[in-house]
Amino acid sequence: MNHSTESQIVIEAANYTSPAVLRQEGERLWPKVWHQACRQEEIPEVGDYLTYDFMDQSFIIVRTGPEELKAFYNSCPHRGRRLTTELTGRATGFICLFHGWKFNLDGSNREVVDRQDWGACLGSEDASLTPVRVDTWGGWVFINEDPDGESLREFLDPVPQFLDPFEIEKMRYRWYVTLEVPCNWKVALEAFNEAYHVQTTHRQILPFYDDVTTSKAHGRHAQFGDFRNDIAVGRPADRLGKRAPEDARALVLGFIRMLAQDVQAIYSERDLESAARVMTEMEPTADRLAIMSKVMEFNREAALASGAGWPDITPEQLFQAGSDWHIFPNMVVLPYCDASLWYRARPHPTDPDRCTFDIYSLQRYTEGAAPPLVRQYYKDWRDFKMLPSFLIDDFINMPEVQRGMHNRGFRGARPNPVKEVAVYNFHRVIRSYISDPDRADAGLEHFQPKCMPA
Ligand code: FES
Ligand SMILES: [Fe+2]
Repeated sequence: MNHSTESQIVIEAANYTSPAVLRQEGERLWPKVWHQACRQEEIPEVGDYLTYDFMDQSFIIVRTGPEELKAFYNSCPHRGRRLTTELTGRATGFICLFHGWKFNLDGSNREVVDRQDWGACLGSEDASLTPVRVDTWGGWVFINEDPDGESLREFLDPVPQFLDPFEIEKMRYRWYVTLEVPCNWKVALEAFNEAYHVQTTHRQILPFYDDVTTSKAHGRHAQFGDFRNDIAVGRPADRLGKRAPEDARALVLGFIRMLAQDVQAIYSERDLESAARVMTEMEPTADRLAIMSKVMEFNREAALASGAGWPDITPEQLFQAGSDWHIFPNMVVLPYCDASLWYRARPHPTDPDRCTFDIYSLQRYTEGAAPPLVRQYYKDWRDFKMLPSFLIDDFINMPEVQRGMHNRGFRGARPNPVKEVAVYNFHRVIRSYISDPDRADAGLEHFQPKCMPA
């Protein structure tokens, strides 16, 4: 990769601010990709359905069997009325409230009122719901409007190879919030797919954590992590210029406490108890690798004893997974063994300066012990008083980034070539969808970074 000035990658502001670009994404990107609609646990019983509204589209995801899901466009084939309007419900079929057409859970038509009026003019397919592809990975339910093309597994490649060892499908919601944010969906997502901002935005973490990361593209997806052969947790960031204290136990505990208690994500209460045990059960001179291994060993024992289980993951797999993945197009995850933190950004249907942002904290639980699912929703992210202080710092940035990008003097984003590869890879891949030659159209100049990395 060339780092010289001439080869800087510049992402033009229009990618984030232009209504035309948002429209192009709506027309060419979203109908072609797998995107996450919900989790399996949200529709556990046959007949459970979920209404998934996305930009100007609406879909129904329904469980038709213990292991079988179906998804449809949420439109009555008669004259188009949306069939479901509640976010979730349980049904034995769907009834259109306009003229009363009825549908089975599998989308086939059950009844057309005054069917005889059509004579031979209405085929059974004409009167049935239009299916979209649906599949699951890691407990998440994805849909794809494109009837052809890659399977979900192919689309996600190589993410499952790195993240399957965490057994995400065995995790359940710990908390879930949806926030409206005044910024483009990519600005929101990009606040979480790099760690370059940690040294300024989350400065409070630096005494416990060395923030140097590398970002890598994996096809359309990307990750970042600390791939040096050292443990970033439990030592002050190099950039602070402080000597690491002799006793790393308290720093490990401080780091885990910040995430387990403030954010209530990535680390569980079990992780925190395990880190606290280390304070009395290990020598102050223990090194960070030994401490982190011990925390994990204690946690594994506790998780197995509680019946929550523990993933069969090797230290090598844990290392390779890094800290964070951008799952194209609109999810980010920080994976760990007992818990994980997820984000999803959904574009506003018409306004490039707005998006809907979901935060999901997942955790392993003993069967039946997961807390009841409460989906919190805030029209203004600032009204969510429980937003962890650590994340408030990210949310304060987002609208300011959006506003700054509107300034005529802003000459485009210049991602860090080492620590923000995920950012420009994101735009490279979106551009490849937008510039599909079969569907070429005006406005593509916005997707031409001045130079792409080799
Ligand atoms: S629009 Fe659904 S029955 Fe008429
Ligand atoms: Fe952040």
